[in-house]
Amino acid sequence: MPTQLLRRIGHGIVYPITGLFSRAGLLAAVYYAFLSPAFWREMRAVLAGRARYLKLVLEGRSNRFLLIRNTHRLEKGLLMRPARDVFALDYIEETVEAFGQAVHDRDGCDPGQLGWSNDILAAYFDSVDATHPLVRSLRDRFRAVALQPGAACRVPYHRRAEAGAQPVPFDDLLALSRHRKSVRWFLDRPVPHDLVRQALAVASLAPSACNRQPYEFRFFDDPGRVAELATLPMGTKGWSSNIPMFAVIVGDLSAYFSERDRHAIYIDASLAAMNFMLALETLGLSSCPINWPDVGWRDRRMAKALDLSPWQRPVLCLAVGFADPEGLVAFSEKRSLDRIARFDG
Ligand SMILES: Cc1cc2nc3c(=O)[nH]c(=O)nc-3n(C[C@H](O)[C@H](O)[C@H](O)COP(=O)(O)O)c2cc1C
Repeated sequence: MPTQLLRRIGHGIVYPITGLFSRAGLLAAVYYAFLSPAFWREMRAVLAGRARYLKLVLEGRSNRFLLIRNTHRLEKGLLMRPARDVFALDYIEETVEAFGQAVHDRDGCDPGQLGWSNDILAAYFDSVDATHPLVRSLRDRFRAVALQPGAACRVPYHRRAEAGAQPVPFDDLLALSRHRKSVRWFLDRPVPHDLVRQALAVASLAPSACNRQPYEFRFFDDPGRVAELATLPMGTKGWSSNIPMFAVIVGDLSAYFSERDRHAIYIDASLAAMNFMLALETLGLSSCPINWPDVGWRDRRMAKALDLSPWQRPVLCLAVGFADPEGLVAFSEKRSLDRIARFDG
């Protein structure tokens, strides 16, 4: 039987079932509980992430994600207009506690970010009403563990000096964006790690929800490891064997105490990936983003190869290398602007 006919028969069977179970949330839950395990791995990873987050809090261990989020909430409080006499009363205690634990544990927390938390907490206690009893007691607790102020004070600042000065003209950004294409044919040339590090410096500046940056870029350029990993995603068929460097961006679901944030790993990692890919182009390198399909055996193989924790999920893979000038790139015409946006007034 021709493939096209088989496919139509398959669609004809699945369509009424999906249509029926999509009518209500409960029906959808029944479908994915009993008829399809498609979401099981994701649900388990989200739960494992929440459990990990809560375990650190309950055991009184340093939880860098809690500290980063709360530090960011405080810095937003400090830049509010008009300035408030007192704020953050519902989370300042856990923030001071998390800061103390991070100072004690050290290893879990980025030193620069610990300094940022220190500066923000110092600015908070300098700016809020110290006659408030909770503020006063927590200020003393904070000051007992506070770090020496560093050279840079990482508190909200005015961008007046930068106002009007465009570091990159629009036309240059447009040209760079046009120049970047998904490249699938590379020269047989190693990718210098220092160039990758330069591009990572740009990736790390991408925005992320509450500044959590809940991802890690994992790079492989040993030919054996690249061969092992590059065939795992489904989208490298036919060109996986010429990838000089293969990257997997791994999301960390232990950054969240609630399911409501479960999509943030995908968004944050993708924003960083875009910065990374554009930066690679400025350094003479090219890349191709590669979809990570949520398929059981592929997920298990990748998790084993990368030694992932249950709360870590591959988000996206990337092929990186020097483009082979003889290799073709796809045109991939883009949608017109009036199709991708609406100004609704
Ligand atoms: C999330 C994502 C997943 C992708 N997955 C694959 C893939 O598995 N295999 C592939 O060859 N290209 C993949 N691509 C590249 C797209 O096909 C490409 O970005 C698109 O056709 C637009 O072309 P351009 O990047 O050259 O502008 C992916 C791109 C994105 C953003």
